[in-house]
Amino acid sequence: MLYLLIFMLIVLVLLLLFLLVYGGSTIAGVIRARGVPYVPLARGKLAFLNENVKFNPADSLVDLGCGNGRVLRFLEKYQGLTKLEGYEVNWWAFFLGRLLNRIYKAKNRIYFKNFHQVDLGKYDVVYCYLLESGLKRLREKFDRELRPGARIVSFDFPIRGWHEPVQTYEGNKNKIFIYQI
Ligand SMILES: C[S@@+](CC[C@H](N)C(=O)[O-])C[C@H]1O[C@@H](n2cnc3c(N)ncnc32)[C@H](O)[C@@H]1O
Repeated sequence: MLYLLIFMLIVLVLLLLFLLVYGGSTIAGVIRARGVPYVPLARGKLAFLNENVKFNPADSLVDLGCGNGRVLRFLEKYQGLTKLEGYEVNWWAFFLGRLLNRIYKAKNRIYFKNFHQVDLGKYDVVYCYLLESGLKRLREKFDRELRPGARIVSFDFPIRGWHEPVQTYEGNKNKIFIYQI
């Protein structure tokens, strides 16, 4: 009986370790929240973002659907932004994000909340990596809440049927669309 318990404990620990290491992109990738899968921005895409988009360190930036907070930590470290917030409804991604923030002593804030219920008026930059269907639902919200001059940085997907992007970056596999209110 004791051996069985120990065995089960070992299996559980291994499973947790597996989830922690690979959960970001594989297992969690298939978990969907509100129609948008949890797929953290891949390393190559992060580099593409960093090379092309220069943020002002004084900007307050929000990641709508921040996943495990990877982009927030990246911008904190490599572009010196200090006012960073993210909203996430996938509990696994949220939990992992909080944990990684602790491990890396990151200062950004991640909230377990539906971003449709957040007033975006206080942000200078909205970053998102959402599907076109998700972006469509945000058009009116952006118009209603964002202040003049605010920018939206959308990775890979354009916001169809809205304003024209002020800038577009296109690489082999990556695209970034920037909009300004
Ligand atoms: C493709 S992932 C992007 C993750 C992260 N922004 C990145 O670039 O690495 C999209 C995330 O948006 C989250 N999401 C979708 N709809 C949401 C909502 N209404 N409120 C909060 N998070 C949402 C999903 O759970 C998913 O983790």
